[in-house]
Amino acid sequence: MYKIAVMPGDGTGPEVTVEAVKVLKAAADKFGFKMELTEFDFGGERYKRTGETLPDSGVEELRQFDSILLGAIGHPDVAPGILEKGILLKARFALDQYINLRPVRLYPGVDTPLKDKGPDEIDYVVVRENTGDLYTGTGGFTMKGTPSEVAVQSAVYNRFQVERCLRYAFEYAKKHGKKARGKGDKNTLALCGKTNVLTYVYDLWERAFHEIGEAEYPDIEREYYHVDATCMWMVKNPEWFDVIVTGNMFGDIITDLGAITQGGMGIAAGGNINPEGVSMFEPIGGSAPKYTGKGIINPLAAICSAQMMLETLGEEKAAEKIEQAVMFVTASKLQSLAAGRMGYSTSEVGDLIAEKVAE
Ligand code: IPM
Ligand code: MN
Repeated sequence: MYKIAVMPGDGTGPEVTVEAVKVLKAAADKFGFKMELTEFDFGGERYKRTGETLPDSGVEELRQFDSILLGAIGHPDVAPGILEKGILLKARFALDQYINLRPVRLYPGVDTPLKDKGPDEIDYVVVRENTGDLYTGTGGFTMKGTPSEVAVQSAVYNRFQVERCLRYAFEYAKKHGKKARGKGDKNTLALCGKTNVLTYVYDLWERAFHEIGEAEYPDIEREYYHVDATCMWMVKNPEWFDVIVTGNMFGDIITDLGAITQGGMGIAAGGNINPEGVSMFEPIGGSAPKYTGKGIINPLAAICSAQMMLETLGEEKAAEKIEQAVMFVTASKLQSLAAGRMGYSTSEVGDLIAEKVAE
């Protein structure tokens, strides 16, 4: 019996979450596990009504669950930053979800803007550190509103944060890594940084990377790429990558790039993972306010997030079945992954997956 907190959130979040839950229920029936779902209304509407984002009491409630399924956070009537910091980042930080795991995988039948690259070439995962960096809110203004105004926002990391993220990434490369194609016969972990400019923060990352790698993971090949070059190679030679580990800010940026190469925000899923605690799974795109309520948004990113959730809970067979169903639907059903151009409505796509899972 899994206790799952469901936070549909804003915009199209609720519509795609309905489909993810539909698929989870089909998987539970088929594979014989039970779930108790509890819905929470944290989001823009609640904030407008009550002024509350995610209160500490809400965090304590969420802590009681085995996992959290999140739709999207972000509301057109609320100033940018309030809901993001007050709900999404608050949950990630308070629940110490220190890994943001974001697979970049091109499913069959999906168009990628990278001509000549297919499912064999676009298949890697980004391990994004999820608690530090420019996201800590360290900094401030002086002389605000004057011509001499100064704004500072610091990239902050401590050795502990860096090490636990690196160890997760090495373990991931050990367990799930595929022998990196054409680059020797060891599984590969690539560190994405910027050691030529961020000579403190990424120096710390690089030293920790090599020290841990050499002492604890001699069987994992280590590579280093600057973040700008990473972007270039993700487009030119995505087949070079298998597991990429990076800091919070670079991870945010490169996973949007990765998402578009795998077919866009309609399919890109992620997990905010606390390996020892409560994890939270969410589509990596936003709340897409302009599509809200039209029934045309693609629910596959939410469904793939639910699939990652089951994998993390240990329901590997069910997770695999959902992924196969997604591959079947991308390969033989959908005309496009874009909202309004799938050839099916949001709920029809959910039905297609749920039926395939039940088979
Ligand atoms: C993401 C989002 C968030 C982030 C925003 C909404 C705070 O872009 O999950 O990638 O920057 O982490
Ligand atoms: Mn992002």
